[in-house]
Amino acid sequence: MQTNPGLEGLVVADTAISEVDGERGRLVIAGLDVEQLAATHTFERAAERILGFEVNTGAGRTATWELLPRLGDALDHADGMDALRTGLAHLRATGDDRVDALAAIAAAPVIVAAWNRKRTGQAPIAPDPALGHAADYLRMTTGSTDAAAVAALDAYLVTVIDHGMSASTFTTRVIASTASDMLSALVGGVGALKGPLHGGAPGPVLDMLDAIGSPANAETWLLAELAAGRRIMGMGHRVYRVRDPRAAVLETAVRALDRLPAGSPRLALARAVETAAAKILRDKKPDRPLAANVEFYTAVLLDAVGLPREQFSSTFAVSRIAGWSAHVLEQRRTGRLIRPSSRYVGPYVNA
Ligand code: COA
Repeated sequence: MQTNPGLEGLVVADTAISEVDGERGRLVIAGLDVEQLAATHTFERAAERILGFEVNTGAGRTATWELLPRLGDALDHADGMDALRTGLAHLRATGDDRVDALAAIAAAPVIVAAWNRKRTGQAPIAPDPALGHAADYLRMTTGSTDAAAVAALDAYLVTVIDHGMSASTFTTRVIASTASDMLSALVGGVGALKGPLHGGAPGPVLDMLDAIGSPANAETWLLAELAAGRRIMGMGHRVYRVRDPRAAVLETAVRALDRLPAGSPRLALARAVETAAAKILRDKKPDRPLAANVEFYTAVLLDAVGLPREQFSSTFAVSRIAGWSAHVLEQRRTGRLIRPSSRYVGPYVNA
């Protein structure tokens, strides 16, 4: 019996939600290329495509706001993903997957924005149910409803809504396969996404860009990072062997923002660091293509629209919770318990 701890190449589900072509760098979500989906859909309409039912989150945002006073210490967590995990756990499961999914999708931006306001000593901002999902999320976080920033944030939320059998998606499907409830699966997804190898990279990407400071320092800084045995955040992917197509979509969305006076001062630096990192990694690992992943330009985009880096991972979850919900519903259709095997290698003996 051979073990395969990363489960690479193992196909565990048939899905109609998204397809990741790692060799060609193509991502299709519910029948549309990610570039097309991001250019033509708001988050709510993209969520409807993968979920198959109407997604309007205004009423759910208001319901979550009314729940906030009962969350107790949940918003005091140092980490936004912990706050989201705890906040979602407070929602009451109805037993109706669609109702629970919609409640959780609507709740996520309210919990995350309120967590950040509290963390920074500001009063949380009540949701405005008349606004779209992205607009209200930005407003509840920063107070701004700048149309260009909303459009960029919406493009981000659409771009990362689903991505094949990612670690967090697999987690939600494992939980769903036990016939557990939707909310339990989504809370599990948050836990899996939190890790720096999955959704926790964009904050560190921004730290990296800050530490490098100017394109001239990129090569020296990156070489020192690798010499210290650390990985370059925002580079490499389990599936993609070329540049992650979502990086291009997000880069385009930041460029649209760049036309504004505030713009994104980090875009030029990010481009230079990406080029330097790709070259250095190519020299170091000629047999393992390591290109920019989605997190690289996530960092630049979310920073440009005014979200703090501490909120980056939980913003990823604000979007991906829709993808997880769709996978839970799809997993229900097979009804098959996911239960792999392990190879017994004997008791560990304390030396
Ligand atoms: N920087 C430096 N080296 C890297 C690297 C990176 N970002 N990503 C992979 N490598 C190296 C590994 O060290 C490994 O080298 P080794 O064979 O000498 O040990 C080799 O490339 C293969 O990596 P592996 O760990 O097998 O790849 P994976 O498929 O498990 O990893 C990631 C995928 C995403 C976890 C990995 O690329 C990574 O850690 N990237 C940085 C974190 C990040 O951006 N995460 C967001 C993902 S969307």
